[in-house]
Amino acid sequence: MAGEVAGPGVASAEAAGGGVAAGNAGRDRVHVITHLPGDGVGPEVTEVARVCVDAVAAQRGFGVEWRGCQLGGRHYLTTGEVLPDPALAELRQSDAILLGAVGTPEVPPGVLERGLLLRLRFELDLYVNLRPSKLRPGIGGAVGKHGFDDLDLVIVRENTEGLYAGAGGTVHRGTEFETSTEESLNTWAGIRRCVRYASQLAATRSGRLTLVHKTNVLTHAGDLWYRVAREVAAEDGVELSYAHVDAACLWMVDDPKRFDVIVTDNLFGDILSDLGAALTGGLGYAPSGNINPDRTVPSIFEPVHGSAPDIAGKGLANPAGAVLSAALMLDHLGESAAAADLESAVNGILATGAPASTGEWEKALLTRLADGGRLG
Ligand SMILES: NC(=O)c1ccc[n+]([C@@H]2O[C@H](COP(=O)([O-])OP(=O)(O)OC[C@H]3O[C@@H](n4cnc5c(N)ncnc54)[C@H](O)[C@@H]3O)[C@@H](O)[C@H]2O)c1
Repeated sequence: MAGEVAGPGVASAEAAGGGVAAGNAGRDRVHVITHLPGDGVGPEVTEVARVCVDAVAAQRGFGVEWRGCQLGGRHYLTTGEVLPDPALAELRQSDAILLGAVGTPEVPPGVLERGLLLRLRFELDLYVNLRPSKLRPGIGGAVGKHGFDDLDLVIVRENTEGLYAGAGGTVHRGTEFETSTEESLNTWAGIRRCVRYASQLAATRSGRLTLVHKTNVLTHAGDLWYRVAREVAAEDGVELSYAHVDAACLWMVDDPKRFDVIVTDNLFGDILSDLGAALTGGLGYAPSGNINPDRTVPSIFEPVHGSAPDIAGKGLANPAGAVLSAALMLDHLGESAAAADLESAVNGILATGAPASTGEWEKALLTRLADGGRLG
């Protein structure tokens, strides 16, 4: 893989012998992107995304300087390192990070989730988790009765607070009175900035925003979310509706056109977006972005799926989620035409039947991109 380096830190592709940076000479826009492939199918799917990004960059006239980063389960097992401070400092220097997935069966649960993924979200203050769910041509979806226009929604999940903030603990461990607490943290400022992002996104789409929560039971956090959402939606001139999370699950399956942009807390967003993925072809098609809209730090783009150890190394991984995540990344970097090229290449391929292997996907994507999207 061009640009891949052995150490945990971030090294330029040129330094790693990839020579990609040299190809950027004369380009007026060059984006520095760290490729963090991770474990299992992560390297397989992000490598496809990476060659597709290079293809659209060449066509759209911008440059990409790739940097490699080897953090993840394999790195942890060989070195004991999860996210060393120098590696974090180097990651901060990129414009964006393209992540595959991390996790291997040998690494105990929580080590990489808390120590790498959540820590990156907290340290870089990536307070929006953007998860589109879109039914694409050729994909019947899990329900089979919905048309493309019926299921095209975006979940904006708060990404740094709620039950994932790490507040809580365990006392009396090992006794029959062992007690564990997980506290959901919800700040006015944290909710407000997330809802603001969602409402501005809704304003660029249908103008409809739905808050999903459980205000009838979680009355403290729910009340704060509801009040803030009402204020922000009114300020932005967006129509706000509300759904309890259980009803939202039902409607996403039964009547998804009720929703356009959903804003919700960290846990509900995590669960709802897997449902959205299942309804639109499965985890292999679901993209995501961990975004800091202030753009003071690199945002992280990754497929929703994990490292899929059951199919790793078999050439069976679907790279569509990674390619669509790269499209979100290019859009975030201001390369919206290139982002649209990637999305239309994926849609065009699906309309004629999904390829069976990672290699066939890569070939089909590059063919479509080389044709300038005419096939799409
Ligand atoms: N963000 C992340 O890095 C992330 C997210 C979820 C899970 N994980 C880690 O991934 C590992 C495996 O977790 P899991 O099995 O619960 O979830 P998973 O998403 O890796 O796999 C779930 C199922 O979906 C299939 N699948 C996933 N991605 C696919 C793709 N691109 N193409 C075709 N099929 C695909 C797998 O084969 C498996 O059957 C664990 O170590 C877990 O901690 C990491």
